[in-house]
Amino acid sequence: MSKKCILAFSGGLDTSVGVKWIQDTYGVEVITLTIDFGQEKDPETIKKKAKSLGAKKAYFLQEKENFVKYFVTPAIMANALYQGKYPLSTALGRFLIAKALVEVAQKEGAELVAHGCTGKGNDQVRLDVAIKSLDPTLKIIAPAREWNLNRETELEYAKKHGIQVLGKGKDDNYSTDENLWGRSIEGGILENLDVEPPEDAFKLTSSIENAPDNPEIISVGFERGIPVRLNDEKMPTVQIIEKLNAIAGKHGVGRIDHVEDRHVGIKTREIYECPAAVTIITLHKELESIVLPKESLSFKNIISEKFSELIYNGFWFSSLLKDIFAYLHSNQRFLTGTIKAKLQKGNIKIIGRESKYSLYSFELATYGKDDKFDHKAALGFIDIVGKPVVAQMQKQLLKLNEKDETNFKLLK
Ligand code: ARG
Repeated sequence: MSKKCILAFSGGLDTSVGVKWIQDTYGVEVITLTIDFGQEKDPETIKKKAKSLGAKKAYFLQEKENFVKYFVTPAIMANALYQGKYPLSTALGRFLIAKALVEVAQKEGAELVAHGCTGKGNDQVRLDVAIKSLDPTLKIIAPAREWNLNRETELEYAKKHGIQVLGKGKDDNYSTDENLWGRSIEGGILENLDVEPPEDAFKLTSSIENAPDNPEIISVGFERGIPVRLNDEKMPTVQIIEKLNAIAGKHGVGRIDHVEDRHVGIKTREIYECPAAVTIITLHKELESIVLPKESLSFKNIISEKFSELIYNGFWFSSLLKDIFAYLHSNQRFLTGTIKAKLQKGNIKIIGRESKYSLYSFELATYGKDDKFDHKAALGFIDIVGKPVVAQMQKQLLKLNEKDETNFKLLK
């Protein structure tokens, strides 16, 4: 009996070519594994396609709920944005694919697993590190990496072997990846940094020009940091994300143009459209601004950045990430409340904030007649808090006789 290889199969160019190439090059049986986490793939079409390429068996897993529960939810709690911009939609999905590949390989008694990643991206790192962490005995095949393919030769190979690519049309000009948390678009004309992304690159969002003139008001209710209500209606987080992708996308919210630093050491440009992710993270941060104390807010930025880097770099199965999860659960325990916003022409304008745990006190903040802040107490506070600055100025800086090269003459 020939050996088996489980191939992560999207139906796109790389993995379609992969089915044929792996059979021919390694002489193994190929079993495909397709996961739907929000791309609304049709199981029958995908399975048929895999079989037509020679796959012996085709798995199709519906993982939308698990994706949101185990991957997107912590990303929301962490306000995860790589380099302050990218909501990590593609990255988060890779760990779920790796886990499923290993599980199916073990079930099928396969010795090999395969994916369609190239040798210069982040995704190969995420998948390989996760697969090796879960089962180091598996051999990993990546046709596009081993073969050192470029898009042109790949298309030629596909043509030569009569391999048709699913979803022909828009995506032909770019390399794309999509799930519930967002869509990534790269390649083609986007590789020129001074070109504005053409409209044919986008699928989930309208341009600012085409977005409606009238604003739309939305509200998101959070419990312990997790979105549980949209416009006052309780619903599963998956559904909130789906609805917000449509609503915010219509208003042109969530387009991101990012020159990012890949883990493999190069700068590349990726365009993202993540309407729900951008909306939810913006509103989530706003809720944190009324519920978390000042020190927690600044510490959260450190956590958020570290969390995003670990995900981006492929270290999902690391103890540091687990420790951060524990921190997030504690950090988010008062993150219950509702934020209201107006979406219009690509903008998210916050117009309402409510939480039973809000630290905002009207009586302390107001300048009106209800003011309860003890203005006189400020004198003692200023005296003590300012002591180190006053002492340094008096004892050192004013006595210093060096030339001021800074052009900031304020020191003397
Ligand atoms: N740059 C993103 C990341 O590393 C997305 C990678 C996949 N992009 C694509 N267009 N296929 O997570």
